[in-house]
Amino acid sequence: MSKRYYITTPIYYVNAAPHIGSALTTAVCDFERRYRKMRGEEVHFLTGTDENATKVFEAAQIAGRNPHEFADEVAHKFVEAWDFLDIEYDDFIRTTEDRHRDAVQKFFNLLKDKGYIYADKYEGWYDVSAETFVRESDLVDGKSPDGNEVRRVSEENYFFKLSAFGDRLLAHIEANRTFLLPESRKNEVVSFVKQGLRDMCITRQNTGWGIPVPGDDSKVIYVWFDALINYLTATGWPNSGWDDLWPADVHWMGKEIFTRFHATLWPAMLMAADLPLPKTIIAHGWFTFGGEKISKSKEGGLVTPQQLAAHLVEVSGCTPPIGKDAVRYSLAALLPYEGDTNYSYEEVERRYNSDLANDLGNALNRSLSMAHKFVDGVIPDSEPADEVLKEVSIAKSEYEAMIATFRWDQAVDRAIALVRFLNKYIDTASPWAMAKNSDPALPSVIRGLLLCLRTAEGLIRPIMPTAADAIAAQLSLPTLLNWADIGLVSSVPAGVKLGQPQPIFPRIDLKKNMETKPTPAPVAEVAIPVPTPETNEIAISDFAKVQLRVARVLEAEEIEGSDKLLKLQVIIGDERRQVVAGIKANYQPADLVGRQVVIVYNLKPAKLRGVESQGMLLAAVDDSGGAILLQPEQEAPEGAMVR
Ligand code: ME8
Ligand code: MG
Repeated sequence: MSKRYYITTPIYYVNAAPHIGSALTTAVCDFERRYRKMRGEEVHFLTGTDENATKVFEAAQIAGRNPHEFADEVAHKFVEAWDFLDIEYDDFIRTTEDRHRDAVQKFFNLLKDKGYIYADKYEGWYDVSAETFVRESDLVDGKSPDGNEVRRVSEENYFFKLSAFGDRLLAHIEANRTFLLPESRKNEVVSFVKQGLRDMCITRQNTGWGIPVPGDDSKVIYVWFDALINYLTATGWPNSGWDDLWPADVHWMGKEIFTRFHATLWPAMLMAADLPLPKTIIAHGWFTFGGEKISKSKEGGLVTPQQLAAHLVEVSGCTPPIGKDAVRYSLAALLPYEGDTNYSYEEVERRYNSDLANDLGNALNRSLSMAHKFVDGVIPDSEPADEVLKEVSIAKSEYEAMIATFRWDQAVDRAIALVRFLNKYIDTASPWAMAKNSDPALPSVIRGLLLCLRTAEGLIRPIMPTAADAIAAQLSLPTLLNWADIGLVSSVPAGVKLGQPQPIFPRIDLKKNMETKPTPAPVAEVAIPVPTPETNEIAISDFAKVQLRVARVLEAEEIEGSDKLLKLQVIIGDERRQVVAGIKANYQPADLVGRQVVIVYNLKPAKLRGVESQGMLLAAVDDSGGAILLQPEQEAPEGAMVR
């Protein structure tokens, strides 16, 4: 069998159930697995649980539980969470399994036989939270450099000759540009190694939990030495066939276990065993909450993937499988690559509304509606315009380039940028005006829209498989599963009768969510009609003087120096206008683009803050004077009259 692409997550401690941070790393591996499968590659995706840690044993003790039962139960919670998130792993390893104990003991013996493991006395400190030994001189106010409690240990132990590998490691890092990513973290490793690596204590006294040192039952193997070997265990090493998988192509993890463990200890262990090194070891930053890492050992900001999905379903009204996709989307979109990301419901909701409900939702709805209106809902047999073919092809190749450097955050942005192109293309091409003028290029425009949509379906599939299926279903086309077909005009075959558009991502009603949000500042500056207390009756003929029309927002931006006003470019049928609206407290410019609104069409133009406004948006007024924009209950014809 030829070598498969092998991708791994860290194995998670089973001291507590998984949260959104554990889900992040697992999801990015799943995205890549799905992406490569679409390209027809053989992929093997490993995840699992790290169970022999002192902190797992102690968590069981605190819970008054048998540690094996406790570990079983928590490991199951990981399986459940990954099933929930549609994570398609190929193997789930638990370090309490026999296959792992055997591999670890063989690895230990191999290094001992090669002279890289020796016995000595260990006198010093141990940090249970980080499962690391700490030198006296590294203590800060009696705590570990990470600020964790330490305890004194004095034990006869085995040591690994880590110090022997610094130079070889530096040479390997130097010669292999994508061995450690991102670049900034690689630099951190280089300076860490240059300070000099010290031999590492790799055993602990046996208290009844862990993998015994072969031939010396009084000791167990240090949990990090044990855990790292999982990546090799899962290949079947040292039994035949292990090199179908090894070396791993990608080890993914969070930054806290990169420098000291995956980027130094692990490669040194492999060098000692004369085994090839993984191709890429890559660490992302953290999801933080209130400035702190979201962590199983802390309360703040802890949210499980299931809770987040349930929340999105509740506030948006989307279906549960789409709620799950939206969680997956948020993990890609908010992936902290170099720095950290504050992960909050608000941020997830914001991205849901702007990217999924607005950009993607509008693209789907508008493309299908126009195809029904202008070409009888049948995919026309005309070549899309060059600008469309070009955008589709660039979107695909840029997306691929972003994934080649593991930038899922950029890749989803690129997919959404294609969808924004689609929305803008509708506005500039103006199919409604083309229809009015019997423009023969109209079928080409419609097919272009459908091609963009179909391409977006393909590009989002690794991240949101359910949403991608739903788009294909509305197009009445088979799902686009082969990467090579993405972007081809033949992926939207002429003559196919399209389905009806249905919203996949209903907008989150931010109002419904108000309790969790800061109260917006009152909007005082014009543009929002404020009702007078006594209602003076008017005749219908008076009302008829006011012309109301449906407009669509093309662009929205802030106005310098105003904290209330936004400047909008809108299109009313085939006429463009600029409108200034006092809605900044309630709307982000990005949330507005693509939306339909209602505008007072025959209002005398006025200047607000020196900016000309050619109309006024209609909005309801909330309790604090803020604006809630009126929007047609369903897509209205472009420029429709409102009565
Ligand atoms: O470290 N932000 O397990 P662990 C981003 N067993 N990623 C996060 C995160 C956050 N707030 N919280 C957790 C261990 N993660 C060891 C690994 S591997 C041989 C042994 C993710 O349960 C991230 O991938 O503490 C991080 O590295 C991992 O969970 C730590 O999981
Ligand atoms: Mg941790």
